[in-house]
Amino acid sequence: MVTDYTLITNLVKHLHCIDISQYDVSFLNKSINVRIAETHCNSAKEYEIFIQKNKEEAKILICMLQNSYSDFFRNPITFAVLERIMLPSLILKKKETKHKEIRIWSAASASGQESYSLSILLEELKVTDSYNFNYRIFATDKSEDQIRKAQEGKYSATALNNMNLKRLKQWFTKHGDNYIVKPELKKNIDFSTFDLFSKQLDCPPTSIFGDFDLVICANLLFYYKPKYQKIILEKTTSCLAKGGYIIVGEVERDILIKHHYQELFPQSGIFQKY
Ligand SMILES: C[S@@+](CC[C@H](N)C(=O)[O-])C[C@H]1O[C@@H](n2cnc3c(N)ncnc32)[C@H](O)[C@@H]1O
Repeated sequence: MVTDYTLITNLVKHLHCIDISQYDVSFLNKSINVRIAETHCNSAKEYEIFIQKNKEEAKILICMLQNSYSDFFRNPITFAVLERIMLPSLILKKKETKHKEIRIWSAASASGQESYSLSILLEELKVTDSYNFNYRIFATDKSEDQIRKAQEGKYSATALNNMNLKRLKQWFTKHGDNYIVKPELKKNIDFSTFDLFSKQLDCPPTSIFGDFDLVICANLLFYYKPKYQKIILEKTTSCLAKGGYIIVGEVERDILIKHHYQELFPQSGIFQKY
């Protein structure tokens, strides 16, 4: 069913200054249809009236659209390629050029799982690699709430389903029913809020000059319309160092292929622009 939701998007913008019309059309339609059903409205027209009368409803709809689901080592192929090929070769490159620091931007890091997964891989490589490299991960998200959770680094046992037992014991401390990330894993991560649609800033101010070897911008592009995907891609890749890589989610690979990026390993979601 194709319906014009302009009135609803205008209303949300008016009430909360958030432009939900940036979201991908089918994702937006699906979300609004779920809210129509859950609020027992019989039509889009009825929902328009409902959202006008119930200010909280706009917030619920916004929350639903701002999906912040994440997981440790979310795409196993990406993380396997990172662990076995990409990060060791990046370390070698640093060694050859006598640079010490690997710089990574996790650009939609949600509650931290992505940046902690990267930190685990790099800490483990520090033990096995003779080159004494440093690394810094700039973990950003537009949501203050998500960044607060990421900084806290507290996860339920269910949220850690993808973590093998060895890593769980080495990098987390059990607190009641939850697990807390150990400080060794946090010390090289800078958490801050950053909106990828910012007109003023090109890269997270905490990183000062960008120059990232790797930008991971996973499971975010596909929520937005093509025009906004392009803005995000331009913003993230403009901060890459020469020869740097961009990583996207499994379902977003086609977007990069359309924009003429080349995938380094099949299905890995790891791309370079030539
Ligand atoms: C589905 S989560 C993905 C988390 C993680 N990258 C992963 O792959 O597991 C999407 C995240 O993107 C963030 N986000 C959405 N729009 C954003 C924007 N314009 N700028 C920065 N972050 C944004 C949301 O707050 C949410 O935390």
